[in-house]
This record gives sequence, C-alpha cells and structure tokens, in this order.
Amino acid sequence: MIVGRQIIHLAQTTSTMDEIERLARSGEMEGLVVVADFQSLGRGRSGREWVARPGLALLCSILLRPEVPANMVAALPLHLGVAVAQAIEEASGTSCKLKWPNDLLVRGKKVAGILTTSRLKGNAIDHVTVGIGINLGPSLEDLPSSATSVSIEAGEQVARQTMLDALLPRLDRRYRAFIAASGQLDLSDWSDRAAFLGERVVVEDADRKVQGRYVGIDQQGGLKLEMDDLSTRVFVVGELTRGPRLPE
Ligand code: BTN
Repeated sequence: MIVGRQIIHLAQTTSTMDEIERLARSGEMEGLVVVADFQSLGRGRSGREWVARPGLALLCSILLRPEVPANMVAALPLHLGVAVAQAIEEASGTSCKLKWPNDLLVRGKKVAGILTTSRLKGNAIDHVTVGIGINLGPSLEDLPSSATSVSIEAGEQVARQTMLDALLPRLDRRYRAFIAASGQLDLSDWSDRAAFLGERVVVEDADRKVQGRYVGIDQQGGLKLEMDDLSTRVFVVGELTRGPRLPE
C-alpha cells in the first residue's frame, strides 16, 4: 500500500494542502494522508475558497511522489478522480459523474472536488499534493444551490471514516496502476463518467470563453473541443459549462 500508509488526523488547520506542503518539504515519504475536521482557509480550484462547516465534509490531502515523466502528471488528478467517483458511488448507492477537469457530480450537483498542486525539482517531479473535499452533511441548507452531499444522496448519514475507508484503497489501486504504466494509463474509465461529453459546451480559459463540441480528453487529461470549423483545440486548464443550444 502507498496511499494511506500513514494517516494524520487534525482537529483544525488552515488547509490540509498547507500541512502536506510542509511535510513534503521536510522530506516525508509519499502516501501520507492528512485529514482535518475543519479548515480555516480551505482552498478550491482557480483561487476559490472551499468552505465546510466542522465535521460536515471529508477534508484530506495526500502526498505523492510519482516517478513518471513530468508531462504525464497532469493526468494523475483525473485518474484519482475515477477512484473518488467509485468511492462516492459505493457510499451513496448513486452514480457519480466527472466534470472536467475534476468536479464530482451526483444528479448534476457538485458533491466533491479535487485540487492538485505539483512541485518540480529540476525537470523532474518532486511531489504532488492532492486535496480532496467530499460533502457529507445531512442538509442542503449548509450547501450552495449547485451542490449536494453523499449523505443526502444516500438518504442516510455517511460518516467521514466510512467515506475515508472507501476512498483510500481505491486511490491506492489507481495510483499504483498509474505508476506502473509510467503515467500512460487508459482514461476510458474517466470518459465513461464524463459529464457533458459529446455536447456543446463553453470552456472559460483565463478571461476567454470558447464554445464548441466536447469530443473527449487526451492522454494528458486535456479537454478536446471541436470548433465550428471542425478543427480541434485542446485545453489544459479552464472551467467547463454546458453551452447554449443551437437552433435546430
Ligand atoms: C475544487 O473543487 O475547487 C477543489 C476543492 C478541493 C477542496 C479540498 S478540501 C481538502 C483540501 N484542502 C484544501 O484547502 N482544499 C482541498
């Protein structure tokens, strides 16, 4: 086992991302997981904050030191996203979709998110920090209207430990497969769960919004968009939303 070989539980921290960064810099081995009951400065993607009331979410970060070519590491969060989706499905009994790059949706609502940061040493990867937040609260009142929780979807309270126990072995299996394949692992499991795939979508990249048809993802996890002139563009970062319907 790599992922979960050591687990540190904290009552409170600024962010589990900060804890892992600190431990990574002090030379800690990969596979370490930090779980917190509460984060005072929880972070989401694109500089957003990630807010969860104490005890109402599984909040964890994992230290990884993947020995794969640096250009393959962008696909790692997508592979781990499949493992998170499977764990959510097991805990909730519902199907979980993946919205590129890494939102987890149940019935179109966000149930969990993944934040990844990477540090290089020279041209090689020193470490990757993978942060996972999974909503577990019993009530929609504690969540934005676009979100749900595993417990709400399951129809019963899912404990954080139950969620963690479902999550870590799946992350471990997927991570070891990724390493064994030098990062060239098949992403078809991801595509099978992809929200909006084949549909007209908008990708917001920096301050530009680009419309096209979402035709797939590439081996590095980039989103492939077919433009109106039938050329294909690949996005490595951005926000995906469903696009406007065209007149028939
Ligand atoms: C997103 O959807 O924007 C990603 C959210 C990631 C949230 C998790 S909670 C545990 C870890 N610590 C953080 O500060 N963020 C991640």
